[in-house]
Amino acid sequence: MIQRYDFAPLDGITKAVYRRVWSRYFGGADRLFIPYFSPAKEHLLAKRERVELLPENNPDAVLVPQVMANRAGDLLWAAETVRDMGYTELNLNAGCPSGTVAAKGKGAGLLARPEALEAMLEGACGKLCLPLSVKARVGFASPDEFPRLLEIFNRYPLKSLILHPRVRKDKYSGTLYYDAFELALKESKNPVEYNGDLRTEGEIAGFAARFPDAHAVMIGRGAVADPALFRKLKGGAAASRGELREFTAALFDAYTRFYDGQTGLAARRMREVWFYLIHLFDDNRRLNKDMRRFRTATEYRAAEDAIFRELPLRTDSSGDLV
Ligand SMILES: Cc1cc2nc3c(=O)[nH]c(=O)nc-3n(C[C@H](O)[C@H](O)[C@H](O)COP(=O)(O)O)c2cc1C
Repeated sequence: MIQRYDFAPLDGITKAVYRRVWSRYFGGADRLFIPYFSPAKEHLLAKRERVELLPENNPDAVLVPQVMANRAGDLLWAAETVRDMGYTELNLNAGCPSGTVAAKGKGAGLLARPEALEAMLEGACGKLCLPLSVKARVGFASPDEFPRLLEIFNRYPLKSLILHPRVRKDKYSGTLYYDAFELALKESKNPVEYNGDLRTEGEIAGFAARFPDAHAVMIGRGAVADPALFRKLKGGAAASRGELREFTAALFDAYTRFYDGQTGLAARRMREVWFYLIHLFDDNRRLNKDMRRFRTATEYRAAEDAIFRELPLRTDSSGDLV
């Protein structure tokens, strides 16, 4: 039975501004994961990263910061930094598929060199001032790598092992290796959490029926496509048109303030949100094109107005969120 629903980190979307506004209008996630920050060599937090992490810029919800690191020293520093801000868990990114990240041996690149992953965990675990969880794929090039990776994770006490059961090259679409996830459910010594392609209450119920031993899921794109998804999972109402209209207006205003009044930049952020949110509307082909192509904030507003005025609202999102 699923007992916990977490909001996945989506860099560029679920940053502090989105988290604050979304939590005010919808909420319902048990925990929100903050998109990663990367420790610099000299162990200084960049101003924008501090702004992103500071509790006063975040909603009053359970938040888990995530670090992109490949060295024990960086992990230890990151844990102290977020502990000093009041956080109680640190999450390690072992899944980011970006080529430049992986080439540095970070993100999914950690999985390509299991001995380096092990050296980092060996150097940090035992000295960390906070519990560590890991968000990982099931392999770099192939799910055949997973048993070896699981063996490594099993040697360390993790708060949880969150698995997106794909390999790096498939990014966020393509085969989900459920066998690897099942192996983790059976053999992981740490609590396991599932992440990947869950978009609707029906899909989540199907997942829970197929994996009765799974207790926690993390949802990303599905929750941006349907901002009321977590609320519905807790027995609440679907999003109404009026509520969505107020939510997107408040989000645009908040982005505009964040960008010191530059509405063009705010509109660009809204485009990222609408990339998913459009899936909550039927017959969206033509207006989705307008939403993808607008050039100015005025054009953005016109596209959004037309969507709310003309398109039938669904109770669940539909279609591939890629
Ligand atoms: C635009 C975008 C940004 C993402 N940023 C992060 C990130 O900062 N850290 C991370 O661990 N995963 C990140 N992910 C991966 C998601 O957290 C999640 O694992 C992935 O979207 C699959 O889950 P979903 O199908 O529920 O969205 C990102 C994914 C997308 C599409």
